[in-house]
Amino acid sequence: MTTTPHTSTPPTTTASASAAPAPAATPAPTAPTSTASPAPTAPTPAAAPAPDPALANAHCMHSHTCGELTAAAIGARVTLTGWVGHRRDHGGLIFVDLRDRAGITQLVFDPELLAPAFFELGERMRPEWVLLVEGTVRARPEGTVNASMPTGEVEVVLSFVEVLNTSKTPPFSLEDGIETDELTRLRWRYLDIRRPEMLASLRLRSRVTAALHAALVARGFIEVETPILGRSTPEGARDFLVASRTSAGSFYALPQSPQLFKQLLMVAGLERYYQIARCFRDEDLRADRQPEFTQLDVEMSFIEESDVMDLMEEVMAEVFGAVGLEHTFPLQRMSYAEALARFGNDRPDTRFGLELVDISRIVATSGFQVFSSAVKAGGVVKAINAKGAGGLSRGEIDKIAAVATEHGAQGMAWIVFTASGEVKSPIVKFFTDEELEALRFELKIADGDLVLFGAGDIETVSAALSAVRLYLADLLGVERSCHKLLWVTDFPMFRYDADEKRYVANHHPFTRIRDEDIDLLQSDPLACGSYSYDLVMDGYEIGGGTLRIHNAEQQLRVFEVLGFTREEAFEQFGFLLEALEFGAPPHGGIALGLDRLAMLLGGHSSIRDVIAFPKTSSGSDPLTGAPAQVSARQLKEVGLRLG
Ligand code: AMO
Repeated sequence: MTTTPHTSTPPTTTASASAAPAPAATPAPTAPTSTASPAPTAPTPAAAPAPDPALANAHCMHSHTCGELTAAAIGARVTLTGWVGHRRDHGGLIFVDLRDRAGITQLVFDPELLAPAFFELGERMRPEWVLLVEGTVRARPEGTVNASMPTGEVEVVLSFVEVLNTSKTPPFSLEDGIETDELTRLRWRYLDIRRPEMLASLRLRSRVTAALHAALVARGFIEVETPILGRSTPEGARDFLVASRTSAGSFYALPQSPQLFKQLLMVAGLERYYQIARCFRDEDLRADRQPEFTQLDVEMSFIEESDVMDLMEEVMAEVFGAVGLEHTFPLQRMSYAEALARFGNDRPDTRFGLELVDISRIVATSGFQVFSSAVKAGGVVKAINAKGAGGLSRGEIDKIAAVATEHGAQGMAWIVFTASGEVKSPIVKFFTDEELEALRFELKIADGDLVLFGAGDIETVSAALSAVRLYLADLLGVERSCHKLLWVTDFPMFRYDADEKRYVANHHPFTRIRDEDIDLLQSDPLACGSYSYDLVMDGYEIGGGTLRIHNAEQQLRVFEVLGFTREEAFEQFGFLLEALEFGAPPHGGIALGLDRLAMLLGGHSSIRDVIAFPKTSSGSDPLTGAPAQVSARQLKEVGLRLG
């Protein structure tokens, strides 16, 4: 507990505390049973156990936080520190809301009880000034209790005031729920973070990280840091490069993930490794992507796929517990093929239905050419029954069709089954009664439903209808407030990249091919399955992992399928191939996207909300101005000249 904090006057003091009568030493008050809540508007999860006030208030200038004083503290002498929020001058009495990371406490400047020098400070006080005050906790007068605040029953009537610092007027209001544009908030991020909802999201993220550490350490995992300055190895995204001064003309690459180092640690015999690792990928940004992001990175030896999935379920159960949320375990495990068939993508939001149904068989010989020719060409026809949406207007249906075309479809056919039993659609005239009947049966159609169709190659139909599915969920206000985790497993090892005209690995090139498919590696790469699993939450991929190749020859053959010559493979991955020849154990692992996990647990829609200093969608930092130009001298030192 702090005693007489005002005697150690900080250099920034602007008010003459010494002119004031010396206040009595602050007695260490008996810590009231805390009702402190982290923030008034914490996101969805329930508050974690409140920190022990005796510990939280040790080693600092205050005796209590601004969030913990309740009726139990009435009569206590307290020292508080914080920022000035609202100030109200009630002709005589001045009320100031003092805010710190724990909450808000109402201060009373009473000229009868406060020395004039201190009262005068109350008159001059501006928002965001930094104060140290001392006073006595008292009950608020009847009729002025604020039941919506944890400290709303009390106020602190002041005897001492010290201004630790003044503040310029903030460029936006430091309150929750503001509509200030994100660029402005990022420009003054340190002010933005003073807002309770931002602080709550960082606090939640910290709880998640702490729970991850605790869960893994308890299970015998060893935390190891791996290099940030590495070598460029093609892993999927573009690398960020760092020019070397000592080897001018050579470059380090920032790690896209610690993938190869964690595999080397398995060769080294660590058996159970983890790291909260920063990763860097130069790729196009989205709401759930940042150029630098954080992974919980895990690797284990002598394991099978289910060992990794079982472990991560235990870890996730502890994380959910740490943030006061519930989820049922074990998790559903769905194959990639099933996810694609039913939801159109490999990260299905399974909190609601609106599933895709393959009706190719029904319409293979349909008089509607678009459908029958799609099937003849080897494609598919799929449909979604938007139950109860038969009443949507033509304009609303056109908007749904626009979503399909934005995602690659040529167009979108639809049929309305009206509540009064009519069937309305420009295409219905092409259908026989039998076909319509089969559709009704297959899609469980009732009067009042709207059925939407996609026809074409499987990739296009899946992309278009999975986007339509999510759009419909929003449009129809489908309930999605709960969380839903599941595993998507058994990804094909490769896909064909038509732009690059070569095979690429679905996960990464170090993924182990299923034993039964290994003979197909050269003859039919697309038929090769892999030991792989993604963790999906609420329609987001929050983690991905695989078993690894632990045999140099198989690794080389995979590199060859990916288009590397033997020489290129040795040039880029020689260190890995060599290590695999020194008794590499069977191993595998996973990485969770910590930002995405914290975003979803906190009920946010962008990972920027759970990152203290994120980049904008163009990859810049409005606060520091990064990326920025460097001097000609700096360039010269690393042997570079701008073209
Ligand atoms: P992967 O590339 O799937 O796997 O990444 C793992 C998880 O990291 C998150 N993630 C991102 N989060 C924010 N911004 C990004 N740009 C971004 N990119 C990925 C996702 C993803 O599921 N080394 C392998 C893991 C392994 O095999 O063990 C890897 O990095 O949530």
